[in-house]
Amino acid sequence: MANYNCENWQKSMKLRFDYNNMMAKYVGETEGLQEKELNELNDFAINAFNKFNAIRGTGMTGWADLPYNQGEIVEDVIKTADDIRKNFKYFVVLGIGGSALGPSAVFQALCHLHHNDLPDDKRNAPKFYVEDNVDPERMQALLDVIDVNETMFNVVTKSGATSETMAQYLIIMDILKAKFGDKAKEHIIATTSSAKGNLIKIAKEEGLKTFYIPDGVGGRFSELCPVGLLPASVLGIDIKELLKGAEYMDKLCATSDVKSNPALMSALLSYITINKGKNISVMMPYADGLKLVADWYCQLWAESLGKTFDNDGKKVFVGQTPVKALGVTDQHSQVQLYTEGPFDKVTTFLAVDNYRKTFIIADGCEDIPDVNFLCGHTMNELIQAERVATEYALTVKERLNRTIYLPEINAFTIGQLLFFFELETAYAGEMFNINTYNQPGVEGGKNATYALLGRKGYEEKKAELNNAPKKDDKFII
Ligand code: PA5
Repeated sequence: MANYNCENWQKSMKLRFDYNNMMAKYVGETEGLQEKELNELNDFAINAFNKFNAIRGTGMTGWADLPYNQGEIVEDVIKTADDIRKNFKYFVVLGIGGSALGPSAVFQALCHLHHNDLPDDKRNAPKFYVEDNVDPERMQALLDVIDVNETMFNVVTKSGATSETMAQYLIIMDILKAKFGDKAKEHIIATTSSAKGNLIKIAKEEGLKTFYIPDGVGGRFSELCPVGLLPASVLGIDIKELLKGAEYMDKLCATSDVKSNPALMSALLSYITINKGKNISVMMPYADGLKLVADWYCQLWAESLGKTFDNDGKKVFVGQTPVKALGVTDQHSQVQLYTEGPFDKVTTFLAVDNYRKTFIIADGCEDIPDVNFLCGHTMNELIQAERVATEYALTVKERLNRTIYLPEINAFTIGQLLFFFELETAYAGEMFNINTYNQPGVEGGKNATYALLGRKGYEEKKAELNNAPKKDDKFII
């Protein structure tokens, strides 16, 4: 039996959510929360929990079922991934937003930190690239480092209407057809909606192998469907373990008892502190492997909660700006602001109990005690000490902070972490009474791009843009 199916192992890998430093007892009366305050909102939080559970699995909350309903899909993904691993040296994801951030986050967390630079005999998976921009220099740079003959592309877009992804697709397909003619389709897999959108039409016409993004799964909630599962499996990550971790977190959060449900408590703390003017959520992992999880979180939190209207059509302008920081690196760039600047932030530390490697700091500099004190300690001790020190520095300066502990970084704990944030976001959306799953602001930008590039049906938008006030040279110096 795999470790991740064993109850004791699962328990040993359980994430812990520590919110002591959100409380007045630790962070002071002015900024900190009182237990009474939390108790008063107990029914409110239960209501949010019930509201989410009432819609769970319907509409755009299909993501919540992903740990449970993908048996056959997972087998197909694993088989396809095995073939790709055998036959290709490069695997390139073409996608943006939710189609790119999840695959990147899981790659960085669970693969070697210099995966692409490893010699072939030490890297047991294709080199991996996620192309989530339309910077022409970057497209050329990609083509300079891959060999198209040995590359499998994975174009990922739910709508099939995203200009960035479709532009990349057109460029790559053109190259593939010029090189391989009818066999171009052997170098590209589509991941998209089965029912609607342009990519599904194209995929059928071209005969592309296709994986489907379920209807109720939006971009930023899609990492645990084939959007993320295929790249992860190609990279040799155990996707069953990833899904098991998500399921484990789901079960931990299956209670309306706020004090036992970590994602619900986390959402409630966010709700209270956002209402008190904490407009910034800093996500600060103390592990390079988790750096892009912070990126992924930023999209999830920003796009889901940043809304003008609530569900009753009232203007609420709700949201909290997510910011990513990396421990310890950003202690030397941002922590000065966090400890002494405005009281507008809540910091979430991601801590790792056991790193996958231990490094001893070598002996030396015997004559210089200010350096020599490091000798004999491990880098592991140093990074933990710096995290504890930063947490302390923030706390004594009355800065709200909380910590999520991962016993170690593996597919099971990453599955838990992603699902924790998805549930927290869903509960917080219910608390704010907003539509967590739409993104009218993003669509606005997409539509303006279509109009500027002359897409049919967007003539009115083009006229609106043409009529916008022209920029005045006097303000350009
Ligand atoms: O969360 C979302 O839905 C968005 O950020 C999308 O992921 C992003 O806009 C890309 O959309 P699509 O998958 O349709 O290309």
